[in-house]
Amino acid sequence: MKTHTATAQSSPNIAFIKYWGNRDSGLRLPVNGSISMNLDGLFTRTSVNFIQALAADKLVINQHEVAGPGLDRVSSILDIVRQAAGFQMKAEVFSENNFPTGAGIASSAAAFAALALASTHAAGLDWSEPAISRLARLGSGSASRSIPAGFVEWKMGMDDQDSYAFSIAPADHWDLADCIAVVNSGPKATGSTEGHALAPSSPLQNARVADTPRRLEICRQAILERNFEALASVIEHDSDIMHAVMMTSRPALFYWKPATLAVMEAVREWRTRGIPAAYTIDAGPNVHVICTRAASNQVAKLLRKIPGVGSVLIAKSGPAARLI
Ligand code: PMV
Repeated sequence: MKTHTATAQSSPNIAFIKYWGNRDSGLRLPVNGSISMNLDGLFTRTSVNFIQALAADKLVINQHEVAGPGLDRVSSILDIVRQAAGFQMKAEVFSENNFPTGAGIASSAAAFAALALASTHAAGLDWSEPAISRLARLGSGSASRSIPAGFVEWKMGMDDQDSYAFSIAPADHWDLADCIAVVNSGPKATGSTEGHALAPSSPLQNARVADTPRRLEICRQAILERNFEALASVIEHDSDIMHAVMMTSRPALFYWKPATLAVMEAVREWRTRGIPAAYTIDAGPNVHVICTRAASNQVAKLLRKIPGVGSVLIAKSGPAARLI
């Protein structure tokens, strides 16, 4: 019996300039470009086995079999791979995260990046990095950015072929870290797929999108010049603008908890005291505090003292997705 197997590992990424809203939700073509940093040490490891005798795709995440929409989303990526490879074999997909699930750290970026890399390789396709990034994008937009190394830009592009991510600078270009303040959250927040669909209902979204090229340019330059003050200012501003859109969508999306705001205020105050730290927040209550690696232990210690902060994870700037 013929089998085709590969295993890949990839990290989540934290967006410095956020992706929020699609111009084509089926193809996950974004309304704006975005920039992120991969998070080292946190990873998803995914094995894909295409097997002749299998009747249907099977998905196992952290040892639990997943059916329904989760499996359908994975099968739609596998369908593209099967079509490109010219075979019909179904696949078993085994995926494990080394970071706590339910801690509110988005796992879909790392998951779909690892799936895209492992499945193309298992099928014997020798795709370029942009092609694999595009495939990952179809599973989860931000997954496109977990394929290249280090500091990454996802360009909105003209069309499906042209919308992929590429590395602006390798992981060791700048010794940054992300101290993730895990804020104890209540019921599960609205997922990002649903959130992207609500973005156009905010009257602020057009202004956010129109100003994004300017913020992208400031962020790119700040990374290339390792200018922390410029980076801090633009990432906090970009996060605030995205949350303004979220809060003014219909229905409104409020992701912050009281501890989220407490961390934001503390981080701004630390910066006035010379601690190189800046906040950014995704579609949840956790605060990602971006700081220099030298300051990361001090920042983590300060974060742990803030009431409502459950735990703090520290991740350095990370590498590209890779086969193992
Ligand atoms: O890739 P998605 O659909 O999970 O969207 C990610 C959205 C944000 O995390 C809020 C922003 C971003 O650019 O990562």
